[in-house]
Amino acid sequence: MKYEPVGVFDSGVGGLTVAREIMRQLPKERIVYFGDTARVPYGSKSQETIIRYSRQIIRFLKTRNVKAIVVACNTASAFALDTIQPELDIPIIGVVKPGAKIAAETTRSGKVGVIGTEGTIRSRIYTETIAKHDPNIQVMAKACPLLVPLVEEGWLKDKITVEVATRYLQPFLESDVDTLIMGCTHYPLLRSMLRRILGNQVNLVNPAYETARGLKRLLQDNDLVNDGKCTADGKHYEFYVSDAAEKFMEFANNILPYDIDNTQLIHIEEY
Ligand code: DGL
Repeated sequence: MKYEPVGVFDSGVGGLTVAREIMRQLPKERIVYFGDTARVPYGSKSQETIIRYSRQIIRFLKTRNVKAIVVACNTASAFALDTIQPELDIPIIGVVKPGAKIAAETTRSGKVGVIGTEGTIRSRIYTETIAKHDPNIQVMAKACPLLVPLVEEGWLKDKITVEVATRYLQPFLESDVDTLIMGCTHYPLLRSMLRRILGNQVNLVNPAYETARGLKRLLQDNDLVNDGKCTADGKHYEFYVSDAAEKFMEFANNILPYDIDNTQLIHIEEY
C-alpha cells in the first residue's frame, strides 16, 4: 500500500499549488491529481453539490488505488470533508485545518484575517476552526470571488488585479490583523502582490504548505510513507481532468516544477 499514489483533487487548476508543495516536501510520493475543470468554480455552489462532486471524485481516485486523499480545495474542504471522512477506509486531509492551526499558533495580535471563495467564507469553517484552537482570537473573513477568474486568466501582475485585490483587502489594512490566511487555492499565486498591498507586518499563511506537512504526518502515522526509490523527474505524477485538458496543462506547466505532457480526460459524472 505504501507504494501506491496519493490522490489530490480540486475544482480545477488551483489545487496544483497544493500538489506543488507535496512534490517539494514529499518528493518520493506518487501523485494522482484530479482537476474538476468541467464543473469549476466550486466557490459559488451549494454544500450538497460539493459533497456530491467530492464523492464522485473520490470514487474515481480509488480506481487509481490511492492510499490517501488530499482535498486540495478550500471550498471542498469546508463543505465536504467532515461528511466524507467517515465514509472512507483510507486517510484523508483537507487544506483548512492545517492553515487555521498555523494561523492560530503564530498570530501575535490575536487578530487573524481570512480570504476565500464565497462558499468557504459562508461556511465559517476558518473562524470556527481557529476558535477551537483559541477562542480569544478574532477572525475577520472576506470573500474575494473575483480573484479566482483573474488568476485563471493569468493576470497575476496586472494592474486590474492589483486594484481588485486592494479593494478587497482594504478592511484588513484598517485593522490590526497581523496574519492573513490565503484561504483559496489560487491566492498563493498572488502572494507577492498581496504582500505589497498589505506590507511586511502581515504574515501570509499558505495552507498548501501546512497541508503538505500534515500529509507527511498522516502518512507516517498510518505507516504509508513511500520509502522506495525516488525518480524525482515528474514521471510518477498522473493528471486527470473533467474538461479542457490542454488549457489545464498550459497552466500546470507554468506553476509546477516539472513539465507535464499527458493529462487524461475523465467523464466524472459516470463515477
Ligand atoms: N479551489 C477553490 C478553493 O480553494 C477555488 C476555485 C473554485 O471556486 O472552485 O476554494
